[in-house]
This record gives sequence, structure tokens and C-alpha cells, in this order.
Amino acid sequence: MTESLASMLAANPVVPVVVVESASDGVEVGKALVAGGITTAEVTFRTRAAADAIHAMTEIDGLTVGAGTVINIAQAKEALAAGASYIVSPGFSADVVRFAQGEGVPVLPACTDGSWLMAALELGVDTVKFFPAVAMGGIPTIKALSAPFPQVRFVPTGGVSAANLADFLAVPAIAACGGSWMVKKNLIAEQKWDTIAELSAQAIAIAKEAGR
Ligand code: 3PG
Repeated sequence: MTESLASMLAANPVVPVVVVESASDGVEVGKALVAGGITTAEVTFRTRAAADAIHAMTEIDGLTVGAGTVINIAQAKEALAAGASYIVSPGFSADVVRFAQGEGVPVLPACTDGSWLMAALELGVDTVKFFPAVAMGGIPTIKALSAPFPQVRFVPTGGVSAANLADFLAVPAIAACGGSWMVKKNLIAEQKWDTIAELSAQAIAIAKEAGR
């Protein structure tokens, strides 16, 4: 694990996966996350607003903004130009990993089996997203993969929620958890910024209770 990624995840055991339709929504979401005690946001390239939102959100005090759903080098370049501090992918692209490494930016590709973990390790990546976490077997799968790959740390995302966060964070091989439960689409559409702050505070309380 590169030191910057290790310390970033240690300081951010809960990584919200944010999908916004405008930069202004991104700013409101970012402020609500910080109000609830969450200090990072993975802003996904699933909407046209992603780069603008990342750029606007980098102005928020106390928030580290990463780019998510980065599936090619063009998006990775756009993300870094917008000011993203790290890059997350929903799968493994050696091109994206090498590009981020060349730029000196932490990168979190997703790996769900031994072959992808071997590909990651070959490029010096030992911290990976595990996506879609629950659909791919959740904690039992992560524990099983940890036997041959004890050096790997996982960031499960996809199906993680307040209900199972503590169980995931109790697993030593898990560096942090990602998820959208505190920033659900309807909460953003209805501008429920207070609810986002409350769900964020609840997530941080669960993480603290789990010793993170
Ligand atoms: C992701 O991109 O990591 C997932 O869409 C987040 O999954 P969730 O919505 O189940 O939390």
C-alpha cells in the first residue's frame, strides 16, 4: 500500500460513493458529509457533472475529493485536471493504474478474484476495491482471498450499509468501506442535506465503535 493511500484510508474508513447531476449539488453533498464527520468523497464519473463537481468540491475545507467509476485514461486525466486526489475504478485496468502511478496519485482498482489480485500485485498495487462486495460473496470471499493474499487490503463497496458496516470493518484485511447509503439519489434530488449529514455521522459512529 502506498503510504499516502494507507493514511488516506486510515483517516477515512467510510468512503461515500457520490453521484451528482451538478457541481452545486456536489458542493452541498460535500458540506453535509463534512458536517457529519466524513472527510472524503468518491465522486463518480457516471454523470456529465463529475469533473465540475470534483473541481467545486476541492474548495470545501476538510474534504479530500477522489474520482470514482474511472474506467479509462481519458477519464483519469479529466479527474486529475479537476483536482481529484485519488482514483477509483470499478474493475482493473492496467492502463489506468499505470497512468495514476505515473502521476503520483493513489489508485484503487477493483479486484474480485485471485487473477485480478495477481495482476494488481504485479503493478505494485496491494490495496484494492472489492466490488460489487455483497454480490461477490462479501466477507467470506474476502476472508478466503486473504489466505493466499495476506498482503492485500480490501475496500469493499456495493451492498455495504449501516446495517453491515461494523461486520465489514471488523475484518482486519478490510482497509475501509465504500458505499452510497448516506448519499442516495433521492436524498440528493430532495436536497435532504441534513439527512446526509445525519447518516454520515451514524456511519462514523459505527466505524469508531468498530475501532477505526
Ligand atoms: C460503487 O460504485 O461502489 C457502488 O455503486 C456503490 O454501491 P452501493 O450503492 O451498493 O453502496
